[in-house]
Amino acid sequence: MASQTWFVTGASGGIGRVVTEQLLERGDRVAATARRPETLAGLADRHGDRLWTAAVDVTDTQALNDTVDRAFADLGRIGVVVSNAGRGAVGAAEEMTVASIDEQIALNMTAPIHLLRRVLPHFRAQGGGRFIQVSTMGAQISTPGAGMYHASKWGVEGFFESVIGEVEPFGVGITLVEPGSVRTAFGAHLDVAPAMPEYAQGPAGRIRAYLDSVDNLTGQAPGDPRKVAAAIIASADVAPAPRRLALGSDAYQAMRTALTGRLAELEAGRRTAATTDF
Ligand SMILES: NC(=O)c1ccc[n+]([C@@H]2O[C@H](COP(=O)([O-])OP(=O)(O)OC[C@H]3O[C@@H](n4cnc5c(N)ncnc54)[C@H](OP(=O)(O)O)[C@@H]3O)[C@@H](O)[C@H]2O)c1
Repeated sequence: MASQTWFVTGASGGIGRVVTEQLLERGDRVAATARRPETLAGLADRHGDRLWTAAVDVTDTQALNDTVDRAFADLGRIGVVVSNAGRGAVGAAEEMTVASIDEQIALNMTAPIHLLRRVLPHFRAQGGGRFIQVSTMGAQISTPGAGMYHASKWGVEGFFESVIGEVEPFGVGITLVEPGSVRTAFGAHLDVAPAMPEYAQGPAGRIRAYLDSVDNLTGQAPGDPRKVAAAIIASADVAPAPRRLALGSDAYQAMRTALTGRLAELEAGRRTAATTDF
């Protein structure tokens, strides 16, 4: 496909960084945003004015909105937005602090909603665009001890699944990317709640014990961030936009098991469901 302009959040490291690097290497132009834009300095030296940067914490809605408007004003048409910034939190529901609960929702759910809302008028004005939300296999499955991460990602998927139909008439496509475990610093950046002894022997405690035994949960993960980034980039050329993009055989298997189980639960309740009809 002809080179185009992309907008990426969380471009300082991990998946967002590799997406940015691969786009620049193939000749595309990137509006790369990060809380610490100095992390992009090396890329600016190499790629000159094909790299546009801005400092933005995506949980600062005003700053996010201003950055989106500035990027479209400076760069003209932006074909693809990759909403990638995110973080995981670990802790049983009772262990989580109010601040951590608020951060998970603000970062993983509310920020992508505000980002899409701000991008949409620009997409409509230019006759369309592609919005790629980096979600997770954890939006279709759940594990004890990570409830707020799941809540934020299930929530953001519910929003986008609904909005896909609203914006399709404007030529806007939305894709939810659902990676399995990817070898980035995601595990090292986890927000781990203070432990309660009551949970130590249960499933949430076992996850915590496992985290203590490894430096970085995703340090040896099966998913290759370069292949994940390449698949994300390639998805922008698929028409119509795929609603979901599962990446990693771990993601495929875990989501398949979870969805099959949910379908079986629904079928088990079929008779009961029918009992409340008039
Ligand atoms: N790695 C995995 O196993 C995995 C699996 C499924 C889904 N995901 C999803 O993939 C996305 C990227 O994660 P990753 O694996 O690349 O992790 P990562 O290496 O920790 O990178 C996370 C990125 O998000 C940025 N970020 C965090 N909070 C931010 C904020 N408030 N404002 C702006 N940027 C912020 C970070 O910037 P700083 O450098 O400033 O912290 C960093 O650039 C996330 O949405 C995550 O949920 C990851």
